Amino acid sequence: MVSPTTDNLRKIVSRLFLFSAVAMLLALTSCYYDNEEALYPVRPGTNSCDTTSPTYALTILPIMQSNCVSCHSGSSPQGNLDLSTIDNVKIGINGHHLMDHVRGANGYSPMPPQGLPSLTTCDLHQLYAWIIKQMPAK
Ligand code: HEC
Repeated sequence: MVSPTTDNLRKIVSRLFLFSAVAMLLALTSCYYDNEEALYPVRPGTNSCDTTSPTYALTILPIMQSNCVSCHSGSSPQGNLDLSTIDNVKIGINGHHLMDHVRGANGYSPMPPQGLPSLTTCDLHQLYAWIIKQMPAK
């Protein structure tokens, strides 16, 4: 029969200690994730893409201002297309393949042009949602 020597006992104790340290670490990290979710819940308009009721004023104007109006406004807008008003954005969509340009699809040059950041997937979804809802002003 093997009787536990002091050495063996030491080994057992240190292994137990290591094991509980790892278990504690795992428990701590899972708590950390729980807390993160509680602290930063998904809020509409921040982490998720809100396509429920897009309007020109609240949804489309900011997209145009951040990505398009710098070139598409003023006395000689690029491509001869002004995009600084709702009526002109409608003209772009109906008569100038605006959606093909922002997707860089069907052979139309990508807008914003190459080298500049493209519209986000959320921007595109909101544009489509706005068009489907008959392009409301507000
Ligand atoms: C850096 C300047 C610049 C930015 C920013 C820009 N464009 Fe353009 N855009 C141009 C130029 C230059 C043309 C004309 C040449 C071409 O079609 O590639 C053009 C052409 C277009 C046309 C075609 C007009 C026509 O009748 O042929 C559309 C539609 C358009 N842009 C939409 C947009 C939209 C929407 C954005 C924002 C998402 C945007 N553009 C951002 C420079 C820009």
